[in-house]
Amino acid sequence: MSKYSHRSIAVQISQEVIFKKHNLTEVFVKRLSAGSFDDSRSAIKSLCFITIRHYLYLEDIWLSCISKRPKDKMVRVILSQALAEFVHQNKPKHVVVNEAINTAKKLKKNWATGLINSCLRKAVEIESHSPSNLPAQYAHPEWWINQLKLDWPDFWQQILLANNQKPPLWIRSKSSPNPEILLKKHTDIDNAYIIQAQDVTTIDAFKKGTMSVQDASAQLASIIMNPKTGEKILDACAAPGGKTCHLLELNSDIQLDALELYPNRAKKIAENLKRLNLRANIIVADTNNTKDWFKGEKYQKILLDAPCSASGILRRHPDIKYIRQPQDFEKICQDQQKLLNSTAEILAPGGILLYATCSVFKQENSDQIKVFLKSHPNFSEIKLNYGLATNCEFGIQVITGTQDMDGFYYCYLQKSLE
Ligand SMILES: C[S@@+](CC[C@H](N)C(=O)[O-])C[C@H]1O[C@@H](n2cnc3c(N)ncnc32)[C@H](O)[C@@H]1O
Repeated sequence: MSKYSHRSIAVQISQEVIFKKHNLTEVFVKRLSAGSFDDSRSAIKSLCFITIRHYLYLEDIWLSCISKRPKDKMVRVILSQALAEFVHQNKPKHVVVNEAINTAKKLKKNWATGLINSCLRKAVEIESHSPSNLPAQYAHPEWWINQLKLDWPDFWQQILLANNQKPPLWIRSKSSPNPEILLKKHTDIDNAYIIQAQDVTTIDAFKKGTMSVQDASAQLASIIMNPKTGEKILDACAAPGGKTCHLLELNSDIQLDALELYPNRAKKIAENLKRLNLRANIIVADTNNTKDWFKGEKYQKILLDAPCSASGILRRHPDIKYIRQPQDFEKICQDQQKLLNSTAEILAPGGILLYATCSVFKQENSDQIKVFLKSHPNFSEIKLNYGLATNCEFGIQVITGTQDMDGFYYCYLQKSLE
């Protein structure tokens, strides 16, 4: 009998994310290195995604079947993962119970097999579970739910429910995808399509460089930027280059600088440009240290796709709800304000600064712009009007789940002429 099973590996990965707050993508890379688990990689990943996404809800179910929560975190994840298979993958009752016991044995938790057996046998008989609290109902931390309620009294439930959905595969494509894989065309954004989930690198259009993976809400950035021939444009936080490439696809006749702080991430911009046969000037530097990289000719347009909490893309990165903590926001907001200030300096009079985040929290979005405009009376907001987004005090918000999109925020600012 093999030492591991795909279930035992998935439990270990989910446990690292949920209890040690590790980054899921990095744990996948570490544990599923090339050559190992080739046959079961996608099964492991989908088990981890559903367990991590729904953990608090699943835990609430099994907690109702046990006198006290086991101290052992691995055992807690075994129970939740088994119920994830039952609830979200429709696996038969006997399979989930037996496999949970086998998983416990593989993970040397033989002492827990009796407990797992009796708890899960009861749990799989529950016809409909009424969650005992909001964090369990929506499978999000309480502070996250409270913040969304404050920020979005009409949309907090939509956002939470959308965050727990498996996201669609959005692509940006020059031509309509093959009808066999096409699921939906975006009604308002040309070139945005949902296709069937698959390995895109095997699709001809991807190989030929006529399509890329990009959520429709992120495609809005370059569309709003509307690059015009000859313009000098800065993509101030560019990696992995999704928006850099899209800007060039919309108009390759621009002078585009793509700036990125981390060399390994900047490599991704180069790879994407190469695949799509596009050209930009990649600069590896801190946008804020303009003395290190800025040559003196100011930009006509700047896209500031700022680092943020990523709360708008939770459905793609469910680990974020464990990693992110309320105390992180002070630093995140300081960094965003610093980037706004630095880019404002190097924008030409009359120029456009598009501030964007993949967050749905107002403190990173509209509130940031409010602070910025107070200290920059030479800037004003030009109102954007898109039916797919909700107007904020400043800027617009794509609410997660609207037309199947990720959550995204945009604010279009203009510098005065003098
Ligand atoms: C939200 S991501 C950008 C996504 C990108 N625009 C795209 O569409 O593919 C933010 C990026 O900004 C980079 N970054 C963060 N702080 C930076 C800084 N001070 N200077 C330059 N880049 C920075 C991060 O490393 C990250 O790659």
